[in-house]
Amino acid sequence: MENIEALREEVLAEVEKAGDLAALEDIRISALGKKGRITGLMKNLGKMDPDQRREFGQALNALKDQVASAIDMRKGDLENAALEARLSGERIDVTLPSRPSETEGRIHPISQTIDEIISIFGEMGFTLAEGPDIEDDFHNFTALNIPAEHPAREMQDTFYLPEAEDGSRLVLRTHTSPVQVRTMQSQTPPIRIVAPGRTYRSDSDMTHTPMFHQLEGLVIDEKTHMGHLKGCLLEFVKTYFELDDVPVRYRPSFFPFTEPSAEMDIGCSRKGGELKIGAGDDWLEILGCGMVHPRVLAACGLDPEKYQGFAFGIGIERLAMLKYGIPDLRTFFDTDLRWLKHYGFVPLDVPNMVRG
Ligand code: PHE
Repeated sequence: MENIEALREEVLAEVEKAGDLAALEDIRISALGKKGRITGLMKNLGKMDPDQRREFGQALNALKDQVASAIDMRKGDLENAALEARLSGERIDVTLPSRPSETEGRIHPISQTIDEIISIFGEMGFTLAEGPDIEDDFHNFTALNIPAEHPAREMQDTFYLPEAEDGSRLVLRTHTSPVQVRTMQSQTPPIRIVAPGRTYRSDSDMTHTPMFHQLEGLVIDEKTHMGHLKGCLLEFVKTYFELDDVPVRYRPSFFPFTEPSAEMDIGCSRKGGELKIGAGDDWLEILGCGMVHPRVLAACGLDPEKYQGFAFGIGIERLAMLKYGIPDLRTFFDTDLRWLKHYGFVPLDVPNMVRG
């Protein structure tokens, strides 16, 4: 019996002192393991007479339970302490201001411009839509009232993918207008979406790159008319260029998928070789637009007797160049880090309606 008391004190003191989980595990093995000290005493039971054995056995079992629960408790404490230490080591103060000098990366002006345009139209109640870069003939052409053999297909120098077995050929979309089609097929009016994205044409010179970006806009409901189109786009250019007023004009134009069609110009001056938006006696074309052609509505499964609306297509690069004074289109895609440092945006300056 004295043995048991001595062992109890010894083991419990060790448990109390265990500094980490590994030390605690060693103690457990040395007390309760197969060759442990308590287990060793168990082996003496066989040599005892029945009365002694009962008493001794009960005491030993009680000791075993006591040691096991002391180890459990100590284990819990050690685990909590370890977690506590880790949490305080990893703590970051999310309210600290960022250090822009340490923010090396830059947002590309294309991404910035897209974000700005989206936030302006978002404020007007438009939602975001997207479509694939690789399109089929139906979405890029046919549904947009550009049938096969139609000369309008020659308007755009299309990149075709290799012909499939059935003779069909996928294309790299030549404009974002196929997203109009996809949206009308999948939503019921009222529709108000903008769809930014990459577009492709086999064209490369001073003012054209084979890949460029557009932002498509589409509004469809039962009463939308040309006046809405004009008001909406005027509001957009004023907000985008951060000007109280911008002279605009609409020149009649042609797109197979809109009727009537127009190109929108904004007033500017080029005095002394410097381009200034918003005043002067010169004009600058910035987008194509028009009322969605009834045939397009029908091709997308909407009743042209019931629904109508407008669409527009904005060239992103052009708007970025105008607002941020970027003189050369091709530099957008040169992946020159010095250029990006100069024209790029600090990632934490997220555009919104208050700070362009
Ligand atoms: N898709 C036309 C283009 O790429 C632009 C446009 C879009 C015109 C929507 C009218 C309506 O030139």
